[in-house]
Amino acid sequence: MGRAPIILAVETSCDETAVAVLRGPGTILASEISSQIALHRPYGGVVPEVASRNHLTHLRPVFECALEKAGVALTDVDAFAATSGPGLASSLLIGHTTAKALALGCGKPFYAVNHLEGHLLSPFQPQAATGAEMIPEVAPGVALVVSGGHTLLVDIAGFDRYRILGRTRDDAAGEAFDKGAKLLGLPYPGGPEIERTAQAGSARAFAFPRGLMERGNLEFSFSGLKTSLLYLWQDLTPDQRRDRLPDLCASFQEAIVEVLVAKTMEAVRQTGRSKVAVSGGVSCNQALRARLEVAARERGVDLLLAPRALCTDNAAMIAFVALLKLAHGAVPTSLQNDVDPNLALLDYSS
Ligand code: KG4
Ligand code: ZN
Repeated sequence: MGRAPIILAVETSCDETAVAVLRGPGTILASEISSQIALHRPYGGVVPEVASRNHLTHLRPVFECALEKAGVALTDVDAFAATSGPGLASSLLIGHTTAKALALGCGKPFYAVNHLEGHLLSPFQPQAATGAEMIPEVAPGVALVVSGGHTLLVDIAGFDRYRILGRTRDDAAGEAFDKGAKLLGLPYPGGPEIERTAQAGSARAFAFPRGLMERGNLEFSFSGLKTSLLYLWQDLTPDQRRDRLPDLCASFQEAIVEVLVAKTMEAVRQTGRSKVAVSGGVSCNQALRARLEVAARERGVDLLLAPRALCTDNAAMIAFVALLKLAHGAVPTSLQNDVDPNLALLDYSS
């Protein structure tokens, strides 16, 4: 192929209907996202049935919009990709089936992509166009993936060579933000709401617990934090609840950020890696980004933060993984491939 390959990817693992068109690794021709947040907000979280029905109605217009913005015809696309898991089965099926049908209809290869690998590699996605042959190196390092469903520390030895160092035993970091916000009467999704409210508060006002902080432990636990917030909240009067809300948010956020940064740096210490890559919806959080920058500088490691537009769910990160698969000569995925709501990130060392 003389020109840079064009990949069209679909992401429907949860509540965003997303389609992206990528040309080569660094040119996102289009990355369209139709968010269902407003639809799920009254329920305080994602309702699977509502999500899948909306993917069904939104996918076609999002797909058409992406192609139009990208200025490419369907026949220009060299490969199709879709998230095959983890996520909500009924949501995954919509995007996955659509991409397989497109691949079949156009006679082009299909690549199933693990949503977690999409987040994991998003800090490596070039931000500017490179030549067709310039496939970015997935450099060895420690990665922190922090989203609504997952909190993972991963040792990256290279593309497709991942080893899980630690994960959460209970709630994911984003889930802790979302559940904490719900308890405080803030709307879904909780992360951005807590971050916004925290700006007027003090991170030292309340002492929330930090789970599993003994040296060497790379696992996470956020359920004690949630319980501690519940007990504190129950003891406050309505006036206190209103007046202390910014302090509660700032201290709650601090407890999550501190644990994420400390464990990431502990993973760096244990592995001896000199790069840290951070991704997932929670990595939008400015307090987390700032603290990681300070910690990385202190430790003398390079910090790769996923660009904000690629932190929360999007299809550009899925297209990027598919492009890397193509570039590394991976065999296309069979059209018999099914979605897997519990798809794990494969450990290459086991
Ligand atoms: O990666 P993502 O879009 O979806 C999953 O794969 O789960 O992450 C969504 C999560 C939600 O829990 C949301 O509250 C959290 O990311 N989030 C944030 C922020 N923006 C999104 N958490 C903290 N601070 C933010 N600014
Ligand atoms: Zn995600």
